[in-house]
Amino acid sequence: DAMWIIVPAAGRGERMGSDIPKQYVMLGEQCMLQHTLSRLLPVPDVDGIVVTLSENDDHWPMVEAGADERVHTTIGGATRADSVLAGLRYVLDRAAPSSWVLVHDAARPLVSLSDIRRLVDTVYNSGAIGGILATPVQDTLKSADEYCCIECTVSRNQLWQAQTPQMFRAGELLEALETSRHGEVSGIPVTDESSAMENLGHEPQLVEALQPNLKVTRPADLLVARLLLTHFAD
Ligand code: CTP
Ligand code: MG
Repeated sequence: DAMWIIVPAAGRGERMGSDIPKQYVMLGEQCMLQHTLSRLLPVPDVDGIVVTLSENDDHWPMVEAGADERVHTTIGGATRADSVLAGLRYVLDRAAPSSWVLVHDAARPLVSLSDIRRLVDTVYNSGAIGGILATPVQDTLKSADEYCCIECTVSRNQLWQAQTPQMFRAGELLEALETSRHGEVSGIPVTDESSAMENLGHEPQLVEALQPNLKVTRPADLLVARLLLTHFAD
């Protein structure tokens, strides 16, 4: 089966508050999106990478200049889910519904090739519907009422933080995202691809990320990402 990667990169980076969208902020010699793409291009057997951009994106040309011919672009939407859907439709115009797609945020420039390879191998070998990179929760978790009074401590046993990439077959993911979008399911909030699949009753596979896979959200994350990029070259 074919394999495509979708990189949602149409966000505005409100929490970062930088002059330009965070995916174009420099991390050393290259901008965040260039780092992200350079981590994805060596994934074996990738047929294409589609980057979803905002309609008024002036910065893409600087990335495109050095980009591989397998990198495509399309226009994203108002929410991350809409951008992923736009990328998915682009893929489904060119590849079969049985094709695998890896959805990976532009805002995770540190993802390692070894973790992506383990995700892909685990999904292939397990026969699961799909899978995601994730990391076990490390902090002690509190449940509180509306006044921030702690009601109890929640066991973190079996709790994981979802990351990207999230890997599913294109046709099945489209069905799941469209179903969630039409509000036809009353489940947990759909904030990633996996939750849309879960709402249809599927059980995606968790694969632990063993290397840092920081989501760059706030200004301090830029400092951490720059430092980590000097230590984790792959
Ligand atoms: N994204 C997207 N389209 C949107 C919103 C987000 O493609 N309409 C992308 C972002 O560019 C990012 C990824 O989804 O690569 C994860 O989103 P997030 O980290 O929340 O980025 P932003 O939405 O840009 O940041 P913020 O929420 O702080 O505005
Ligand atoms: Mg956002």
